[in-house]
Amino acid sequence: MTYSRIVGMGRYLPERVMTNFDLEKIVDTTDEWIRTRTGVERRHVVEEDQTTSDMCVESAKSAMDDAGVTPADVDMVITGTTSPDVVFPNVSTIIQHRLGIPACPAFSLEAACSGFIYALTVADKFIKAGEAKCVLVTGAECITKLLDWGDRNTCVLFGDGAGSAIVVPSAEPGILSCELGADGQYRELLHYPVGVSKNLAAAGTDEANIIMQGNEVFKVAVKTLGRIAQAALDKAGVTKEELDWLVPHQANIRIIQAMAKRLNMPMEKVIVTVQDHGNTSAASVPMALDVGRRDGRIKEGQLILMEAFGGGFTWGSVLMRM
Ligand code: UT7
Repeated sequence: MTYSRIVGMGRYLPERVMTNFDLEKIVDTTDEWIRTRTGVERRHVVEEDQTTSDMCVESAKSAMDDAGVTPADVDMVITGTTSPDVVFPNVSTIIQHRLGIPACPAFSLEAACSGFIYALTVADKFIKAGEAKCVLVTGAECITKLLDWGDRNTCVLFGDGAGSAIVVPSAEPGILSCELGADGQYRELLHYPVGVSKNLAAAGTDEANIIMQGNEVFKVAVKTLGRIAQAALDKAGVTKEELDWLVPHQANIRIIQAMAKRLNMPMEKVIVTVQDHGNTSAASVPMALDVGRRDGRIKEGQLILMEAFGGGFTWGSVLMRM
């Protein structure tokens, strides 16, 4: 049987850091409220002229170095993002061109915070079908460009970044199971109401902001993530006791703690980056995985559960051996 395996990871975070104390000067908030309600202490924010593809190119280079592959080896590019550079060409083609990756399928996936999990799942299917041999999978967001810096309900939560993985076929596992899902009935609870075929005239106005009913999102997130974590384990015939690491979406430390509790995992077995990155949407899981790998906590052969939940709602989990 052919598995797909992550053989290299990389991340890029913009240089500019905004702390909670910086935000205290902009909106009616406090460091204490943000830390205790969300776990966020600081976040990285792109410059005005910096784009999603700028970040993707850097994280992809780092992942290729880590994997020991060159652009010529890559035969598919998939990027999960809801904040691409432009409407088209899609951001994966921009990355492909800038890195000198030869002609190959290159496309983006729009699944909000679940973007990387969706993209990795698609890469897994192409590899298992024998139609790809080296896939560059990235989750990336310039989400701060969508924020209203006067809205304390949302501007304190998010940050920018990109995380990339190189995925190849392998006789050894590898990805063991993937679980994806979505339920559009919840669209109003977390959405951005301005787009191309709807409300385009509102771009740049007060209407163009992330709208979220945070506590409602919170409840569905905890319930759904608990269910799909178990589903991913069941599908692979693995028990939660066997897990070495949980690498969750980094939206809120309280959601992460609730997930760890459900899985009977001590927080020492959970990779937490929310304090340093904030919620970076599709970039959150791959950047957390990269942090855990590079600081030596996550080791080859260990069993890892990744999971994400976001606007749509969309959700997904991937169980894999590193
Ligand atoms: O990544 C996609 C998925 N997203 C998520 O999973 C996010 C899930 N939701 C959350 O993380 C939390 O619901 C939030 C962090 C967004 C909000 O935390 P909460 O504990 O649910 O707070 P709340 O929305 O119920 O608001 C509590 C109070 C309100 O004041 P009143 O009405 O009780 O007087 C808010 O106005 O906190 C107030 N508040 C703030 N106060 C200081 C809201 N934002 C702020 C703020 N600073 N930045």
